[in-house]
Amino acid sequence: MKMNDLKPTWTLARRAERMNPSVIREILKVTERPGIISFAGGLPSPKTFPVTEFEQACAEVLRTDGQAALQYAASEGYAPLREAVAAMLPWNVDASQVLITTGSQQGLDLVAKVLIDADSRILVETPTYLGALQAFTPMEPQVVGVASDAEGVDVDDLARKADGARFFYVLPNFQNPTGRTMSEARRAALVQSAAEHGLPIVEDNPYGDLWFDAPPPAPLTARNPEGMIYLGSFSKVLAPGLRLGYIVAPAAIAPKLLQAKQAADLHSPTFNQRMVAEVLKNGFLGRHVPKIRALYKSQRDAMLAALTRELGDLDVSWNAPDGGMFLWARLPEGLSAIDLLPKAVERGVAFVPGAAFYAEHADPRTLRLSFVTATVEQIDTGVAALGQAIREAIRQ
Ligand SMILES: Cc1ncc(COP(=O)(O)O)c(C=O)c1O
Repeated sequence: MKMNDLKPTWTLARRAERMNPSVIREILKVTERPGIISFAGGLPSPKTFPVTEFEQACAEVLRTDGQAALQYAASEGYAPLREAVAAMLPWNVDASQVLITTGSQQGLDLVAKVLIDADSRILVETPTYLGALQAFTPMEPQVVGVASDAEGVDVDDLARKADGARFFYVLPNFQNPTGRTMSEARRAALVQSAAEHGLPIVEDNPYGDLWFDAPPPAPLTARNPEGMIYLGSFSKVLAPGLRLGYIVAPAAIAPKLLQAKQAADLHSPTFNQRMVAEVLKNGFLGRHVPKIRALYKSQRDAMLAALTRELGDLDVSWNAPDGGMFLWARLPEGLSAIDLLPKAVERGVAFVPGAAFYAEHADPRTLRLSFVTATVEQIDTGVAALGQAIREAIRQ
């Protein structure tokens, strides 16, 4: 018998069967077509990437510590980078509590592996970050959505669902996808209620530094560090291609996250960690992040003005986020954002239908618009095209 005739039987693990192509990645493929103005991606503006600083840091790291920078290293991360992260956070964190991860997306994956069993219950906001749903779902949990409004999570609904849940995953600042920020009152009530129910919180905060007029209230974790796992990222304040993020977890959980990290990738790239530690020296973020804020704020203003101009007479609603990268809109009754997308793409503009971000009971009228990657001119043209597509859909 020839080797080619011997066909193995591949049996997929249940968790692999639950993995789905990311709707967002599929959409991004369409938006890569020339001429499409994309409000769809979650990409930071490349104009904000500090290329020159990285060029210098790269040369410096290779010159001073080249061999160590190219060697295997500790799974916890590069000590000076862990120290820099601990010093950045607005509560008392020791560098030994910081685990450097390969993006905060890896943080979500590690949390899923350490805290979720098949059929255990986890709670998420409505709607929530699609990448978190992708990280959690393969572990076969029951994912329950907690009602949320413009101020954030509905704490009464959370209290009703809290008992026995493994954790509540929450993004209090400039949430992906809605752009909303949780109010101070809601944060206080949430932390209190979670503590009363013994419910652990997983707080994801990649956008918190990207505020426009005033910083958001303190992170949830600052209020009860023992009850929470905090995820941070360098993707939105430096560059996503570095793939560097971090976790701060209570002592009861941290060693397990570290073991999961060891199994996943031994450690995050040594070279990138050293470059970031070098770039962060001398308070670089304090000079750099205000520039990102100013750029994103002007882009948000351009999108809000374009929406008012092009859609102001229609029954379309949208919010005005105080920071971050995304704005959340809702189409008139009877319209579906999924059905609208091909019509919009035909007219040269793309967005992400909101349905992708719901754990349960999707609202088909919602959509996410990123205001940071398109230029102001493209925002004007793209929103006008979106307006035409919506008008056409209303007429049909
Ligand atoms: C809410 C949220 N969490 C985590 C991530 C993952 O970020 P990274 O892995 O680049 O740190 C993203 C990326 O868009 C995000 O929006």
